Amino acid sequence: MQAKEIITKKRLGEENSKDELEFLLKGFLSGEIKEYQLSAWLMAVFFQGMTSRELSYWTELMWHSGITLERSEEASRIGNQYWIDKHSTGGVGDKTSLVLVPLVKTVSEKYLKNISMRIPMISGRGLGHTGGTLDKLESVSGFKTQLEIQKAMELINSQGFFMAGQTDAIAPADRLLYSLRDVTGTIESIPLIVSSIMSKKLAENLNGILFDIKTGIGAFMTSSEQARELAQGLISVAKSQGLDAVGLITKMDEPLGWKTGHFLEVEECADFLNGQPREKHLEELILESAAWMLTMASKRKISVVEAKSMCLDIIEKREAYPLFRMMFESQGGDFNVFENERELFRKHSFCFEYKAEQSGVISLIHARQMGVLLVEIGGGRLTKESTIDNKAGFEFYKKVGHSVHTGDTILRAYYRKAEDLEKLKKLLPLAIKISEEKMSQSDSASIVEEIIL
Ligand code: URA
Repeated sequence: MQAKEIITKKRLGEENSKDELEFLLKGFLSGEIKEYQLSAWLMAVFFQGMTSRELSYWTELMWHSGITLERSEEASRIGNQYWIDKHSTGGVGDKTSLVLVPLVKTVSEKYLKNISMRIPMISGRGLGHTGGTLDKLESVSGFKTQLEIQKAMELINSQGFFMAGQTDAIAPADRLLYSLRDVTGTIESIPLIVSSIMSKKLAENLNGILFDIKTGIGAFMTSSEQARELAQGLISVAKSQGLDAVGLITKMDEPLGWKTGHFLEVEECADFLNGQPREKHLEELILESAAWMLTMASKRKISVVEAKSMCLDIIEKREAYPLFRMMFESQGGDFNVFENERELFRKHSFCFEYKAEQSGVISLIHARQMGVLLVEIGGGRLTKESTIDNKAGFEFYKKVGHSVHTGDTILRAYYRKAEDLEKLKKLLPLAIKISEEKMSQSDSASIVEEIIL
Protein backbone atom coordinates (compact mmCIF):
# COMPACT_ATOMS: atom_id res chain seq x y z
CA MET A 1 0.00 0.00 0.00
CA GLN A 2 1.22 3.51 -0.75
CA ALA A 3 0.18 6.79 0.84
CA LYS A 4 0.16 8.49 -2.55
CA GLU A 5 -2.47 6.05 -3.89
CA ILE A 6 -4.68 6.56 -0.84
CA ILE A 7 -4.43 10.34 -1.17
CA THR A 8 -5.18 10.19 -4.91
CA LYS A 9 -8.26 8.02 -4.35
CA LYS A 10 -9.63 10.53 -1.87
CA ARG A 11 -8.74 13.44 -4.12
CA LEU A 12 -10.81 11.81 -6.90
CA GLY A 13 -13.77 11.40 -4.54
CA GLU A 14 -13.44 7.63 -4.16
CA GLU A 15 -13.92 5.82 -0.86
CA ASN A 16 -10.87 4.80 1.19
CA SER A 17 -11.08 1.31 2.68
CA LYS A 18 -10.67 0.49 6.36
CA ASP A 19 -7.21 -0.97 5.64
CA GLU A 20 -6.15 2.15 3.79
CA LEU A 21 -7.26 4.42 6.62
CA GLU A 22 -5.48 2.23 9.15
CA PHE A 23 -2.32 2.28 7.03
CA LEU A 24 -2.52 6.07 6.88
CA LEU A 25 -3.10 6.75 10.57
CA LYS A 26 -0.71 4.11 11.92
CA GLY A 27 1.94 5.21 9.41
CA PHE A 28 1.51 8.82 10.50
CA LEU A 29 1.79 7.92 14.18
CA SER A 30 4.93 5.85 13.59
CA GLY A 31 6.52 8.57 11.44
CA GLU A 32 6.57 6.50 8.24
CA ILE A 33 3.93 8.68 6.64
CA LYS A 34 5.05 12.26 6.60
CA GLU A 35 3.12 15.31 7.75
CA TYR A 36 3.01 16.65 4.17
CA GLN A 37 1.34 13.43 3.03
CA LEU A 38 -1.26 13.45 5.76
CA SER A 39 -1.86 17.16 5.12
CA ALA A 40 -2.58 16.40 1.46
CA TRP A 41 -5.06 13.70 2.49
CA LEU A 42 -6.72 16.06 5.00
CA MET A 43 -7.16 18.66 2.27
CA ALA A 44 -8.65 15.99 -0.03
CA VAL A 45 -11.12 15.10 2.77
CA PHE A 46 -11.86 18.81 3.21
CA PHE A 47 -13.05 19.00 -0.41
CA GLN A 48 -14.46 15.50 -0.95
CA GLY A 49 -15.87 14.73 2.50
CA MET A 50 -16.09 11.21 3.91
CA THR A 51 -18.65 8.46 3.45
CA SER A 52 -20.36 7.34 6.66
CA ARG A 53 -18.29 4.13 6.52
CA GLU A 54 -15.04 6.08 6.27
CA LEU A 55 -16.12 8.40 9.07
CA SER A 56 -16.94 5.52 11.35
CA TYR A 57 -13.61 3.68 10.63
CA TRP A 58 -11.55 6.86 10.96
CA THR A 59 -13.18 7.77 14.28
CA GLU A 60 -12.58 4.27 15.65
CA LEU A 61 -8.92 4.38 14.62
CA MET A 62 -8.40 7.72 16.33
CA TRP A 63 -10.25 6.56 19.44
CA HIS A 64 -8.14 3.38 19.67
CA SER A 65 -4.91 5.37 19.41
CA GLY A 66 -5.38 5.79 23.20
CA ILE A 67 -7.12 4.31 26.21
CA THR A 68 -10.81 3.86 27.03
CA LEU A 69 -12.00 4.54 30.59
CA GLU A 70 -12.58 1.16 32.17
CA ARG A 71 -15.45 0.69 34.57
CA SER A 72 -14.22 -0.91 37.75
CA GLU A 73 -15.36 -4.43 38.58
CA GLU A 74 -17.34 -3.01 41.45
CA ALA A 75 -18.97 -0.49 39.13
CA SER A 76 -19.93 -3.23 36.70
CA ARG A 77 -21.43 -5.26 39.53
CA ILE A 78 -23.64 -2.37 40.71
CA GLY A 79 -25.41 -2.59 37.34
CA ASN A 80 -27.80 0.02 36.03
CA GLN A 81 -25.05 2.57 35.73
CA TYR A 82 -25.61 5.13 33.02
CA TRP A 83 -22.54 7.05 31.83
CA ILE A 84 -23.31 10.27 30.03
CA ASP A 85 -21.51 13.42 28.93
CA LYS A 86 -22.39 16.60 27.13
CA HIS A 87 -20.42 18.23 24.34
CA SER A 88 -20.90 21.86 23.40
CA THR A 89 -19.28 23.51 20.41
CA GLY A 90 -18.59 26.49 22.64
CA GLY A 91 -19.80 30.01 22.93
CA VAL A 92 -19.65 33.22 24.91
CA GLY A 93 -20.84 33.00 28.50
CA ASP A 94 -21.66 29.30 28.13
CA LYS A 95 -21.34 28.00 31.66
CA THR A 96 -24.01 25.30 31.41
CA SER A 97 -21.71 22.33 32.20
CA LEU A 98 -20.91 23.74 35.64
CA VAL A 99 -24.58 23.70 36.56
CA LEU A 100 -25.56 20.57 34.65
CA VAL A 101 -23.22 18.16 36.41
CA PRO A 102 -24.44 18.77 40.00
CA LEU A 103 -28.02 19.32 38.85
CA VAL A 104 -28.36 16.14 36.80
CA LYS A 105 -26.65 14.06 39.48
CA THR A 106 -28.87 15.45 42.24
CA VAL A 107 -32.07 14.96 40.23
CA SER A 108 -31.11 11.40 39.33
CA GLU A 109 -30.41 10.53 42.96
CA LYS A 110 -33.76 11.87 44.08
CA TYR A 111 -36.00 10.69 41.26
CA LEU A 112 -34.29 7.91 39.28
CA LYS A 113 -33.52 5.62 42.17
CA ASN A 114 -32.83 2.52 40.09
CA ILE A 115 -30.22 4.22 37.88
CA SER A 116 -26.81 5.37 38.98
CA MET A 117 -25.75 8.21 36.73
CA ARG A 118 -22.06 8.78 36.06
CA ILE A 119 -20.86 11.94 34.36
CA PRO A 120 -17.22 11.81 33.25
CA MET A 121 -16.94 15.34 31.93
CA ILE A 122 -13.86 16.05 29.83
CA SER A 123 -13.79 19.66 28.76
CA GLY A 124 -11.57 22.12 26.99
CA ARG A 125 -10.04 25.56 27.35
CA GLY A 126 -11.19 28.72 25.68
CA LEU A 127 -9.45 30.02 22.60
CA GLY A 128 -10.29 33.11 20.60
CA HIS A 129 -13.63 34.68 21.46
CA THR A 130 -15.08 31.62 23.23
CA GLY A 131 -14.58 30.65 26.85
CA GLY A 132 -13.66 27.20 28.13
CA THR A 133 -15.09 25.21 31.03
CA LEU A 134 -11.62 24.38 32.42
CA ASP A 135 -10.68 28.04 32.72
CA LYS A 136 -13.92 28.76 34.55
CA LEU A 137 -13.32 25.92 37.00
CA GLU A 138 -9.79 27.15 37.65
CA SER A 139 -11.08 30.52 38.78
CA VAL A 140 -11.79 28.75 42.09
CA SER A 141 -8.41 28.79 43.76
CA GLY A 142 -6.70 25.38 43.98
CA PHE A 143 -9.00 23.56 41.54
CA LYS A 144 -7.09 20.91 39.57
CA THR A 145 -8.26 20.22 36.04
CA GLN A 146 -5.42 17.85 35.11
CA LEU A 147 -6.39 14.58 36.78
CA GLU A 148 -4.58 11.27 36.59
CA ILE A 149 -6.89 8.65 35.12
CA GLN A 150 -6.82 6.80 38.44
CA LYS A 151 -8.01 9.88 40.36
CA ALA A 152 -10.72 10.56 37.78
CA MET A 153 -11.99 7.00 38.17
CA GLU A 154 -11.94 7.28 41.97
CA LEU A 155 -14.17 10.34 41.68
CA ILE A 156 -16.51 8.63 39.24
CA ASN A 157 -16.85 5.69 41.62
CA SER A 158 -17.25 7.76 44.78
CA GLN A 159 -19.34 10.78 43.76
CA GLY A 160 -20.43 9.92 40.22
CA PHE A 161 -18.66 12.67 38.25
CA PHE A 162 -15.46 14.56 37.55
CA MET A 163 -14.62 17.65 35.53
CA ALA A 164 -11.25 17.42 33.87
CA GLY A 165 -9.10 18.34 30.91
CA GLN A 166 -8.02 16.06 28.12
CA THR A 167 -5.19 13.73 29.09
CA ASP A 168 -2.41 12.56 26.80
CA ALA A 169 -3.73 9.02 27.12
CA ILE A 170 -7.08 9.80 25.45
CA ALA A 171 -7.10 9.76 21.63
CA PRO A 172 -3.50 11.03 21.25
CA ALA A 173 -3.86 10.82 17.46
CA ASP A 174 -6.41 13.62 17.60
CA ARG A 175 -3.98 16.02 19.24
CA LEU A 176 -1.39 15.48 16.53
CA LEU A 177 -3.95 15.67 13.78
CA TYR A 178 -5.60 18.77 15.21
CA SER A 179 -2.27 20.63 15.23
CA LEU A 180 -1.78 19.67 11.61
CA ARG A 181 -5.31 20.74 10.67
CA ASP A 182 -4.75 24.00 12.49
CA VAL A 183 -1.87 24.98 10.20
CA THR A 184 -3.23 23.51 6.96
CA GLY A 185 -6.62 25.24 6.85
CA THR A 186 -8.52 22.00 7.43
CA ILE A 187 -10.20 22.63 10.77
CA GLU A 188 -13.56 23.52 9.24
CA SER A 189 -14.37 20.13 7.78
CA ILE A 190 -17.46 18.47 9.24
CA PRO A 191 -16.19 14.84 9.04
CA LEU A 192 -12.84 15.86 10.54
CA ILE A 193 -14.58 17.73 13.35
CA VAL A 194 -16.94 14.80 13.99
CA SER A 195 -14.11 12.25 14.14
CA SER A 196 -12.04 14.54 16.37
CA ILE A 197 -14.85 15.10 18.89
CA MET A 198 -16.15 11.54 18.85
CA SER A 199 -12.74 9.85 19.17
CA LYS A 200 -12.40 11.57 22.57
CA LYS A 201 -16.00 11.01 23.66
CA LEU A 202 -15.94 7.29 22.79
CA ALA A 203 -12.90 6.91 25.03
CA GLU A 204 -15.16 7.87 27.97
CA ASN A 205 -17.08 4.58 27.58
CA LEU A 206 -20.45 6.36 27.56
CA ASN A 207 -24.00 5.06 27.28
CA GLY A 208 -25.35 8.38 26.11
CA ILE A 209 -24.28 11.81 24.96
CA LEU A 210 -25.93 15.19 24.54
CA PHE A 211 -24.64 17.58 21.91
CA ASP A 212 -25.19 21.33 22.15
CA ILE A 213 -24.36 22.72 18.74
CA LYS A 214 -24.33 26.48 18.76
CA THR A 215 -25.31 28.55 15.78
CA GLY A 216 -25.29 32.31 15.19
CA ILE A 217 -22.86 35.21 15.22
CA GLY A 218 -20.93 34.00 18.28
CA ALA A 219 -20.72 30.35 17.23
CA PHE A 220 -18.12 28.22 15.53
CA MET A 221 -20.85 27.16 13.05
CA THR A 222 -22.56 30.39 12.11
CA SER A 223 -25.35 28.94 9.95
CA SER A 224 -28.14 26.63 11.10
CA GLU A 225 -27.49 24.34 8.11
CA GLN A 226 -23.85 23.76 9.12
CA ALA A 227 -24.88 23.25 12.75
CA ARG A 228 -27.50 20.69 11.70
CA GLU A 229 -25.00 18.84 9.50
CA LEU A 230 -22.50 18.69 12.37
CA ALA A 231 -25.17 17.49 14.81
CA GLN A 232 -26.30 14.78 12.40
CA GLY A 233 -22.71 13.60 11.87
CA LEU A 234 -22.03 13.44 15.62
CA ILE A 235 -25.29 11.64 16.35
CA SER A 236 -24.82 9.10 13.60
CA VAL A 237 -21.29 8.19 14.74
CA ALA A 238 -22.47 7.97 18.38
CA LYS A 239 -25.40 5.73 17.42
CA SER A 240 -23.23 3.54 15.20
CA GLN A 241 -21.20 2.78 18.37
CA GLY A 242 -24.32 1.89 20.35
CA LEU A 243 -24.73 5.16 22.30
CA ASP A 244 -27.98 7.03 22.71
CA ALA A 245 -27.54 10.59 21.44
CA VAL A 246 -29.52 13.82 21.15
CA GLY A 247 -28.48 17.10 19.53
CA LEU A 248 -29.73 20.54 20.48
CA ILE A 249 -29.17 23.31 17.96
CA THR A 250 -29.03 26.45 20.10
CA LYS A 251 -28.65 30.14 19.36
CA MET A 252 -25.42 31.94 20.21
CA ASP A 253 -26.13 35.48 19.03
CA GLU A 254 -25.76 37.22 22.39
CA PRO A 255 -23.67 36.13 25.40
CA LEU A 256 -25.44 33.50 27.49
CA GLY A 257 -26.64 34.47 30.96
CA TRP A 258 -26.10 37.53 33.13
CA LYS A 259 -22.30 37.29 33.23
CA THR A 260 -19.26 36.54 31.11
CA GLY A 261 -15.67 36.09 32.34
CA HIS A 262 -14.45 33.10 34.31
CA PHE A 263 -14.87 34.17 37.92
CA LEU A 264 -18.14 35.94 37.25
CA GLU A 265 -19.52 32.90 35.45
CA VAL A 266 -18.80 30.59 38.39
CA GLU A 267 -20.54 33.18 40.54
CA GLU A 268 -23.57 33.07 38.23
CA CYS A 269 -23.66 29.25 38.43
CA ALA A 270 -23.49 29.35 42.22
CA ASP A 271 -26.35 31.86 42.29
CA PHE A 272 -28.34 29.83 39.77
CA LEU A 273 -28.33 26.81 42.08
CA ASN A 274 -28.76 28.92 45.17
CA GLY A 275 -32.10 30.53 44.50
CA GLN A 276 -31.06 33.81 42.83
CA PRO A 277 -32.91 35.17 39.77
CA ARG A 278 -31.97 33.18 36.67
CA GLU A 279 -31.47 34.64 33.20
CA LYS A 280 -34.16 33.13 31.00
CA HIS A 281 -32.03 31.77 28.14
CA LEU A 282 -29.50 30.23 30.48
CA GLU A 283 -32.31 28.63 32.45
CA GLU A 284 -33.98 27.35 29.29
CA LEU A 285 -30.76 25.80 27.98
CA ILE A 286 -29.93 24.19 31.31
CA LEU A 287 -33.41 22.74 31.73
CA GLU A 288 -33.51 21.42 28.16
CA SER A 289 -30.03 19.88 28.43
CA ALA A 290 -30.51 18.38 31.89
CA ALA A 291 -33.92 17.00 30.94
CA TRP A 292 -32.55 15.24 27.84
CA MET A 293 -29.67 13.76 29.84
CA LEU A 294 -32.15 12.39 32.39
CA THR A 295 -34.56 11.15 29.73
CA MET A 296 -31.74 9.26 28.02
CA ALA A 297 -30.62 7.77 31.34
CA SER A 298 -34.16 6.58 32.09
CA LYS A 299 -34.13 4.83 28.67
CA ARG A 300 -36.80 7.35 27.68
CA LYS A 301 -39.15 6.15 30.42
CA ILE A 302 -39.50 9.66 31.79
CA SER A 303 -40.45 12.41 29.37
CA VAL A 304 -38.53 15.61 28.82
CA VAL A 305 -41.44 17.56 30.34
CA GLU A 306 -41.37 15.40 33.49
CA ALA A 307 -37.58 15.68 33.72
CA LYS A 308 -37.76 19.47 33.43
CA SER A 309 -40.18 19.71 36.32
CA MET A 310 -37.89 17.48 38.43
CA CYS A 311 -35.00 19.83 37.65
CA LEU A 312 -37.03 22.92 38.52
CA ASP A 313 -38.03 21.35 41.82
CA ILE A 314 -34.37 20.70 42.70
CA ILE A 315 -33.33 24.21 41.61
CA GLU A 316 -36.10 25.90 43.55
CA LYS A 317 -35.30 23.93 46.70
CA ARG A 318 -31.57 24.65 46.20
CA GLU A 319 -30.84 20.95 46.55
CA ALA A 320 -28.05 20.79 43.96
CA TYR A 321 -25.95 23.49 45.62
CA PRO A 322 -24.10 21.10 47.99
CA LEU A 323 -22.96 18.98 45.01
CA PHE A 324 -21.92 22.14 43.15
CA ARG A 325 -19.65 22.97 46.05
CA MET A 326 -18.42 19.38 46.26
CA MET A 327 -17.61 19.46 42.53
CA PHE A 328 -14.94 22.09 43.32
CA GLU A 329 -13.79 20.78 46.67
CA SER A 330 -13.28 17.19 45.49
CA GLN A 331 -10.72 18.47 42.97
CA GLY A 332 -8.84 20.79 45.31
CA GLY A 333 -10.86 23.98 44.87
CA ASP A 334 -11.18 26.12 47.99
CA PHE A 335 -14.76 27.31 48.01
CA ASN A 336 -14.26 29.46 51.11
CA VAL A 337 -11.58 31.40 49.26
CA PHE A 338 -13.98 31.76 46.35
CA GLU A 339 -16.70 33.12 48.62
CA ASN A 340 -14.28 35.58 50.25
CA GLU A 341 -13.08 36.69 46.84
CA ARG A 342 -16.69 37.36 45.86
CA GLU A 343 -16.96 39.77 48.75
CA LEU A 344 -13.78 41.65 47.82
CA PHE A 345 -13.88 41.41 44.06
CA ARG A 346 -16.08 44.42 43.34
CA LYS A 347 -14.03 46.66 45.65
CA HIS A 348 -10.69 45.82 44.02
CA SER A 349 -11.40 45.69 40.32
CA PHE A 350 -11.55 48.60 37.97
CA CYS A 351 -15.20 48.93 37.05
CA PHE A 352 -16.83 50.75 34.17
CA GLU A 353 -20.59 51.16 33.91
CA TYR A 354 -21.77 51.26 30.33
CA LYS A 355 -25.01 53.25 30.08
CA ALA A 356 -27.71 53.59 27.43
CA GLU A 357 -27.27 56.73 25.34
CA GLN A 358 -30.86 56.62 24.13
CA SER A 359 -34.16 55.08 25.11
CA GLY A 360 -35.49 52.05 23.25
CA VAL A 361 -35.08 48.30 23.18
CA ILE A 362 -31.75 46.43 23.19
CA SER A 363 -31.63 44.87 19.73
CA LEU A 364 -28.10 43.46 19.71
CA ILE A 365 -25.40 42.36 22.12
CA HIS A 366 -22.98 40.91 19.61
CA ALA A 367 -21.71 37.63 21.08
CA ARG A 368 -18.53 37.46 19.02
CA GLN A 369 -17.59 41.10 19.59
CA MET A 370 -18.26 40.78 23.32
CA GLY A 371 -16.09 37.65 23.38
CA VAL A 372 -13.30 39.44 21.53
CA LEU A 373 -13.57 42.42 23.87
CA LEU A 374 -13.29 40.12 26.87
CA VAL A 375 -10.04 38.78 25.39
CA GLU A 376 -8.87 42.39 24.85
CA ILE A 377 -9.33 43.19 28.54
CA GLY A 378 -7.43 40.06 29.59
CA GLY A 379 -10.26 37.58 30.15
CA GLY A 380 -9.47 35.23 27.26
CA ARG A 381 -6.67 33.74 25.19
CA LEU A 382 -5.18 34.93 21.93
CA THR A 383 -2.86 31.92 21.74
CA LYS A 384 -2.77 28.61 23.61
CA GLU A 385 0.10 29.99 25.70
CA SER A 386 -1.63 33.23 26.80
CA THR A 387 -2.29 33.69 30.50
CA ILE A 388 -5.72 34.89 31.46
CA ASP A 389 -7.13 37.19 34.07
CA ASN A 390 -10.05 35.22 35.42
CA LYS A 391 -11.54 38.25 37.15
CA ALA A 392 -12.04 40.25 33.94
CA GLY A 393 -15.61 40.14 32.74
CA PHE A 394 -18.99 41.67 32.07
CA GLU A 395 -22.08 41.73 34.23
CA PHE A 396 -25.20 42.49 32.22
CA TYR A 397 -28.17 44.33 33.62
CA LYS A 398 -30.03 44.34 30.30
CA LYS A 399 -30.22 41.69 27.60
CA VAL A 400 -31.60 41.63 24.06
CA GLY A 401 -35.31 42.48 24.07
CA HIS A 402 -35.16 44.54 27.29
CA SER A 403 -36.35 48.14 27.30
CA VAL A 404 -33.94 50.85 28.40
CA HIS A 405 -34.12 54.54 29.18
CA THR A 406 -31.30 56.99 28.55
CA GLY A 407 -28.78 56.63 31.38
CA ASP A 408 -29.78 53.09 32.41
CA THR A 409 -26.83 50.80 33.11
CA ILE A 410 -26.59 48.09 30.44
CA LEU A 411 -23.54 46.38 31.88
CA ARG A 412 -20.64 46.65 34.25
CA ALA A 413 -17.21 45.80 32.89
CA TYR A 414 -14.52 44.63 35.34
CA TYR A 415 -10.97 45.09 34.13
CA ARG A 416 -7.47 45.14 35.59
CA LYS A 417 -5.41 47.66 33.62
CA ALA A 418 -6.29 51.35 33.42
CA GLU A 419 -5.56 51.39 29.67
CA ASP A 420 -8.38 48.90 29.05
CA LEU A 421 -10.91 51.60 29.73
CA GLU A 422 -10.26 53.25 26.35
CA LYS A 423 -10.88 49.93 24.58
CA LEU A 424 -14.15 49.48 26.43
CA LYS A 425 -15.35 52.97 25.59
CA LYS A 426 -14.47 52.53 21.94
CA LEU A 427 -15.72 48.96 21.38
CA LEU A 428 -18.84 48.61 23.54
CA PRO A 429 -20.95 50.99 21.36
CA LEU A 430 -20.05 48.83 18.33
CA ALA A 431 -21.18 45.59 20.01
CA ILE A 432 -24.39 46.82 21.64
CA LYS A 433 -27.27 48.41 19.74
CA ILE A 434 -30.47 50.00 20.93
CA SER A 435 -33.41 50.21 18.58
CA GLU A 436 -36.32 52.61 18.78
CA GLU A 437 -38.68 49.97 17.41
CA LYS A 438 -40.11 47.10 19.39
CA MET A 439 -38.54 43.78 18.45
CA SER A 440 -40.57 41.00 16.89
CA GLN A 441 -41.44 38.18 19.29
CA SER A 442 -39.20 35.71 17.44
CA ASP A 443 -36.07 37.84 17.98
CA SER A 444 -36.00 37.12 21.70
CA ALA A 445 -37.82 33.78 21.68
CA SER A 446 -36.53 30.33 22.55
CA ILE A 447 -32.79 29.69 22.56
CA VAL A 448 -33.31 26.10 21.37
CA GLU A 449 -33.74 26.25 17.62
CA GLU A 450 -34.09 22.54 16.91
CA ILE A 451 -33.80 19.16 18.61
CA ILE A 452 -32.22 16.40 16.57
CA LEU A 453 -32.89 12.83 17.64
N1 URA B 1 -13.42 20.51 18.75
C1 URA B 1 -12.71 19.37 18.63
O1 URA B 1 -12.50 18.65 19.60
N2 URA B 1 -12.24 19.05 17.41
C2 URA B 1 -12.46 19.79 16.31
O2 URA B 1 -12.02 19.42 15.25
C3 URA B 1 -13.19 20.99 16.45
C4 URA B 1 -13.66 21.32 17.70
